[in-house]
Amino acid sequence: MPNEPSIQAKNLTKKFADFTAVDNISFSVNRGQTFAFLGPNGAGKTTTIKMLTTLLRPTSGEMLVNGYSPVTNQDDVRRSFGIVFQDPSLDDELTAYENMQFHGVLYKVTNLEKRIEDLLKFVELHDRKNDFVKHFSGGMKRRLEIARGLLHTPKVLFLDEPTLGLDPQTRNHIWSYLKQLNKTEGITVFFTTHYIEEADRVADYVAIIDNGKIVAQGTPKELKKQTKTASLEDAFLSLTGRKIREETAGAAEQMRMRHRLWRR
Ligand SMILES: Nc1ncnc2c1ncn2[C@@H]1O[C@H](COP(=O)(O)OP(=O)(O)OP(=O)(O)O)[C@@H](O)[C@H]1O
Ligand SMILES: [Mg+2]
Repeated sequence: MPNEPSIQAKNLTKKFADFTAVDNISFSVNRGQTFAFLGPNGAGKTTTIKMLTTLLRPTSGEMLVNGYSPVTNQDDVRRSFGIVFQDPSLDDELTAYENMQFHGVLYKVTNLEKRIEDLLKFVELHDRKNDFVKHFSGGMKRRLEIARGLLHTPKVLFLDEPTLGLDPQTRNHIWSYLKQLNKTEGITVFFTTHYIEEADRVADYVAIIDNGKIVAQGTPKELKKQTKTASLEDAFLSLTGRKIREETAGAAEQMRMRHRLWRR
């Protein structure tokens, strides 16, 4: 089914007790598309990714990932996607190679050694493969997480804030890998970011979520046209409310970064 969308959500809702984190959202991501899911802190992005990737059960609504239901067909769905989580998920006490190996064994990857070697070369970490992850910089860890997410040759890659806290050069680097994958292997890329200018540059299609609801979706060009703005960042701010959010988002992001620092 080549024309079937990679990811579909229809009237998807997630409630935590009586709080609605994701409120009746619908969207569709075509095969090979780079899809940006944007929204302020707490909008419902991670919750949506968790539902699509089988980690949370929706309260109501329907989803399909690579044609499989994340609710009733978890194994097939899991085999078909790779994921880079919002929070770091590498084992610091293992080497880069061992982190890859552990994941590869879990996923029963065939020809594992060659696959690990190739992917470590792809993210330019091959010469550091035997170093402990605890000695890696933030950018190196993120690149390793991307390589690990690709190990079982997924058709869809979910990335929840893959470039958070990285310097502009490393962020560019990461996007160039992802665009390359998207181009050469036709991988569908579903990502979130608070760096709206990144989405403006790399996304084919964008959905903006605010307070659990999708407030707009379209190509970056369409969203700019709709809001009569010159950049996706301005379109985003006009759709989500400029004043209040700017400060709270900044503060929340800072808190999170601090939390991460202390956890190390
Ligand atoms: N397990 C949970 N129990 C209760 N509330 C939750 C739970 N997980 C998420 N929430 C709430 O749901 C809302 C959406 O959270 P979510 O993590 O999806 O936001 P987000 O868009 O990913 O934000 P950020 O940009 O900060 O990562 C928030 O208000 C959050 O507090
Ligand atoms: Mg999140």
